[in-house]
Amino acid sequence: MADVSLDAFLAKINALQNEASATLDDASDASSVEAARVEFLGARSGRLKAIQKMLGGLSSADKPAAGRHFNELKKAITNLLSSAQERLLREESTIEAVDITLPGQAFRFGHLHPITQTIRRVQEIMSRLGFESVTGPEVEDQWHNFEALAIPSEHPARDPLDNFYLAVAQGSDPLLLRSQTSTVQIRVMEERKPPLRIVSLGRVYRPDTADATHYPMFHQVEGLLVESGTTMAHLKSVLRFFASSFLGGDVKVRFRPSFFPFTEPSVEVDMEWGGRWIEMGGAGMVDPAVLEAVGYDPDAVTGFAFGLGVERIAARKYGVADIRDFYRNDVRFLQQF
Ligand code: PHE
Repeated sequence: MADVSLDAFLAKINALQNEASATLDDASDASSVEAARVEFLGARSGRLKAIQKMLGGLSSADKPAAGRHFNELKKAITNLLSSAQERLLREESTIEAVDITLPGQAFRFGHLHPITQTIRRVQEIMSRLGFESVTGPEVEDQWHNFEALAIPSEHPARDPLDNFYLAVAQGSDPLLLRSQTSTVQIRVMEERKPPLRIVSLGRVYRPDTADATHYPMFHQVEGLLVESGTTMAHLKSVLRFFASSFLGGDVKVRFRPSFFPFTEPSVEVDMEWGGRWIEMGGAGMVDPAVLEAVGYDPDAVTGFAFGLGVERIAARKYGVADIRDFYRNDVRFLQQF
């Protein structure tokens, strides 16, 4: 005895095909097409599966015809699914092709950090006066950071509280993160004979508490010129040329007497710009003891050296009130340069 008649089976098949067709005609995005696929063709609880189970209840005489109709239904629903997918793809590409009023996708380009921009600018300005850009290591020994610069062992500048000594290199010749770029003067003079014109820009480290004008890591510009007959007047002209090229306009440069172990005489360098004097760094005539330490003849050549703070001149130029802003990595700040 069959418990399902062929007529009833065919009516089910018709109804399901109509329903599948309506659902897929209405499908407006990929996820509703996928939901329809699961609903109708799903391997476990799909509605086609339910009809397939009815096949068992048909009489053996009706089974071949019923099976043929079932297979046709399956093919029909599969076709409805793929045409719905194709229709969606067509609609998408039509939108892209014709809707020229949609906003474009803007690319966001990065740019160099303001400190890097400043370094390149300083190098470019100094190169016009014949100063070659050189670099030196950031981990230094006692000789290059202190001794050759006439800073003897009892000098307060060597205090462990004022320097980052490396724990891995203690002992009679401890290493440290360089506290000034004057180290590079020594390295270059040891390798080359005068005349010399070099500029070196890089990081230096001091255990200062960070505030608006201090940071435990900052950058210095070191300039060195050694030739015969060099005087303080040359130093001042070079600094004034640099200051007006970098800041723009007529910048006045002022020297105040000071002391550095490796220059004699030594001065603090102030620059007047926009009606205010700002201290930019130190300078002086290279001490004869330093020239001797690197094997130069202090009777044959003289030289000058200067060291300026990169953050300081950049802050002055761009009107930045707090140098910590350079290192906060806030794109809203960095974007402005
Ligand atoms: N090295 C000094 C400092 O860091 C600056 C300086 C450089 C002074 C060259 C004189 C000559 O304070």
